[in-house]
Amino acid sequence: MPVIDAHSHPVPRGWPDLAEVTGSPGPWPSLRLESEREAMIVIGDRDFRRITDQCWDPEVRAADMDADGVDIQVVSPTPVFFSYAQSPEAAAKVSRIFNDLTLEICAPLPDRLLPFCQVPLQDVDAACAELDRCLEAGHRGVEIGNHVGDRDLDDPGTVEFLQHCAARGAPVFVHPWDMPISPRLDRWMAQWIVGMPAETHLSIIAMILGGVFDRVSDDLRICFAHGGGSFAFWLGRFENAWHMRHDIIGTSEQPPSAYLDRFSVDSVVLDERALRLLVDTMGAERVLMGSDYPYPIGERPAGRVVRDADFLSERDRSLILGGNAERFLALSPATEASP
Ligand code: CO
Repeated sequence: MPVIDAHSHPVPRGWPDLAEVTGSPGPWPSLRLESEREAMIVIGDRDFRRITDQCWDPEVRAADMDADGVDIQVVSPTPVFFSYAQSPEAAAKVSRIFNDLTLEICAPLPDRLLPFCQVPLQDVDAACAELDRCLEAGHRGVEIGNHVGDRDLDDPGTVEFLQHCAARGAPVFVHPWDMPISPRLDRWMAQWIVGMPAETHLSIIAMILGGVFDRVSDDLRICFAHGGGSFAFWLGRFENAWHMRHDIIGTSEQPPSAYLDRFSVDSVVLDERALRLLVDTMGAERVLMGSDYPYPIGERPAGRVVRDADFLSERDRSLILGGNAERFLALSPATEASP
């Protein structure tokens, strides 16, 4: 069974001036090459993140995958390119540019690098159209941000898009992004280490209490990044509140714990105790190995905690390292009905 990393990102080595392409002032991301192997992602005029050729060179990725014992990577957009705050037309153009560049990055290794596309999620028709175009072009699924401004995953447009993904058999990876800006979160990478897990937690709650799992087809294969954020740790509090304050949050047909078989999470929690909680809560069939490669707070070697976890049976370890992702990606005939 192949070892599959379900959570990695690319950044192309360059792209057109997005203000020019879209006719909108942005702020837009651009890339400042600093050497053959290093570059800076710049948002507007602010340095955002230093990256290396791991982001754009498939041979460099492949060498790292070999070193880590990874056969296949899912290559999903870096969220800073989503452009959900821009006009749908501008976001559609930007999505098309990055989706096509990601195909180019993955093309030399078609059996090892599986591209996921981004879509202009602020406009459901444009999002469905870009997904369809990308699936035709070779993308294997889609990554979406966990919210569009103040609209969460239970937004009617987003639900319609998710239904479209289910109908097309396209797996959906949900990545937190666009964390709240506050002086309290602007220190110590708090947006990443506190904001991101809270964002993902809220998104899963929105799927449940917003009745999305009650409405959308159970063919939907959906996976949340970073172990589903804070969700698993606080499921008991959520479940208790659903029963005790049913007048306020009893908006789903069933209690929260009844929906755990409707979604998966990745394994990027970087701690064996957290992985054990995830496996105990979600079941070993619902955890997919991921690394967040090549970003610095991801896991290297990819899958380290899963491989080292003493509590996992060999069957469960094998499912998390690859079997579950095979099902999520529909790489082999599905033997189970749900994701
Ligand atoms: Co990521």
